[in-house]
This record gives sequence, structure tokens and C-alpha cells, in this order.
Amino acid sequence: MIPIRRIGFASFDSGDIEKSVDYYTNVLGLSLLDRVGGTAWLACPGDALSVVLNASQHPAGEAAHCGQIGLQIGPQDDLAEVEHHLRGLGLSPERVSDVGPGVAAQVPVTDPAGVRVCVHNALPPVPRAATCGVVPRKLGHTAFFAPDVQKTVEFYQTALGFRVSDWIGDFFVFLRCGPDHHTVNFLHGPVRRMHHIAFELNDWTHVKHACDELDRHDLHLSWGPGRHGPGHNIYTYHTNPDGIMVELFTELDQMSDESLGWFDPRPWHKDRPQRPKVWPPGTPTTNFWGVARPVGINEQRETNAPR
Ligand SMILES: [Fe+2]
Repeated sequence: MIPIRRIGFASFDSGDIEKSVDYYTNVLGLSLLDRVGGTAWLACPGDALSVVLNASQHPAGEAAHCGQIGLQIGPQDDLAEVEHHLRGLGLSPERVSDVGPGVAAQVPVTDPAGVRVCVHNALPPVPRAATCGVVPRKLGHTAFFAPDVQKTVEFYQTALGFRVSDWIGDFFVFLRCGPDHHTVNFLHGPVRRMHHIAFELNDWTHVKHACDELDRHDLHLSWGPGRHGPGHNIYTYHTNPDGIMVELFTELDQMSDESLGWFDPRPWHKDRPQRPKVWPPGTPTTNFWGVARPVGINEQRETNAPR
């Protein structure tokens, strides 16, 4: 099996692509790589491609739909080996070429949560002109509701080589494919849909800058800043004009040496060493700094899971 190295992109169907493009370029500060017909490709400075936007017939006011993510193998790795491995598991991946900027070819497969996962070779970041806005360094992770979290975890481990970093109870799992504590997350929910998309910022100062940028565009935080337990990242959450919850984070735990089995020590860790574990639901797991998840954040309407 060729292991996944990092996340590539997330693809959204948006009912108002003009509004979506405006948010990702002028507020988040991603570079617009290309725009053809009803599709726009955008990237953070550290990515070859971070976000794909597709114009769709979604009713006005309905949240954009994320049905596809890209996951990257190494630049020299062979996609044919990925296809062979997935076929050996009884799956039916069909290679697609000429995908668009940042992706030369990809092998799509649908995970048990219903998300289309497109495996492709990593390409180097694209040189970019200066832009305004937050300008995250890279796409960090995606989180989805999944009706069967355990089955979804098994798929990511077996088919794609992910490792479990942490659980909250038995309903929220964090999976890594490289040094970052998590690249894909899944939490129990009755229907499949995106929980949030997360972009990495440089440091705490960048978080402050991001909050001021959001305010300048009349977008305000729904939660944070705070520090999560799993991953120990400083976080903020806001809902973008597409109705998607967006996390901007920094200081995510790193496991720079998998053979050790613990995350690189940090002053705020309470376990030494900090190994993958099961965290208890509720505060302080969700926020070391003490402010619990506010009632009214959209994920609470569609999950039965306690937290
Ligand atoms: Fe997150």
C-alpha cells in the first residue's frame, strides 16, 4: 500500500459561486488559479490546490455541499499501485486524467461516509502574487459527520494507510496520514455532511490578524479562540457565506517520528509523553481554556452524540 502523505483539496458545490469566490479570495486570501465555466480552483501558499468550487443548483441559503476531497501520495509514487491496492479490497477505482490545476490525474474512491476521496500525486505549491485577506499557509483538515464512524475508520486505515491519533468517547475520531495530528476527522451523525474545513495559520499573531480580517468583512467568530484537547491546536470557528463552518488554527500537535508513538512534547500537554488516546466528552477536552462549545453551532442540530 502506498500511504497518503497529506490532504490535497476539498471540493464544494455552491449555489452562489460568485459569493464563494469572493470569500475565498478576498476574505481568506487564497489565490485564484483558474476559472473555467462553473468551476474555480484556489490555493493557499503552501498548496498546489486547496479548494475547488463548482456552481450548482443549490437553493439560495442552503449550505454548500462538500462531496469530494483530495488526498496526496508522494510526487514519485505510482497511482497504478494505488488502483491495484484498492481493487484488491474489492473497490472499483477508475483513474481520471486532466482534472485541473494542481492535480494531473487522480484515482477516486468513495469512503463509507459517502465522501469521494480522490488520491493524486503531490505537486509543489504554485508561485503566487500578493493578495489580501487571512492567507492561511495551507489546507489543514476536513471533518465530516458519518453514520458509521468505526467502519469509516477501518476504511481509512486499510485502504489509505491512516493512523488513529485520538478519539473523543466513541463518536469523534481524529486520523493522521503524516506528522499533523489530524488530516481527516469523523464524528457520529445521522446524515453525511461536512462538519468543518480547517486552514492552518502560522502562529498566534496570525490568529489575531485573521480575527481582525474576518471582522473587517463582517464575519464573526462562533467559537474561540480556544485550545482543543485532541491535537492541542489553538482554534477559531466562523461560518462562511456558503454556510460552511471554517476553522482557522495553529499549533497543531505533530508526530514527527511515527516509530516513537507519541507527539512532539509541548508545554501545554498534560500527558507526558502525549500518546494517542481516548478523551472524555465535554470541557475541558473541547477547550482547555474553559469556554464550552456554544449552543447554536450548527453541528449540534444534527447529531445525537453527547459532547
Ligand atoms: Fe478541526
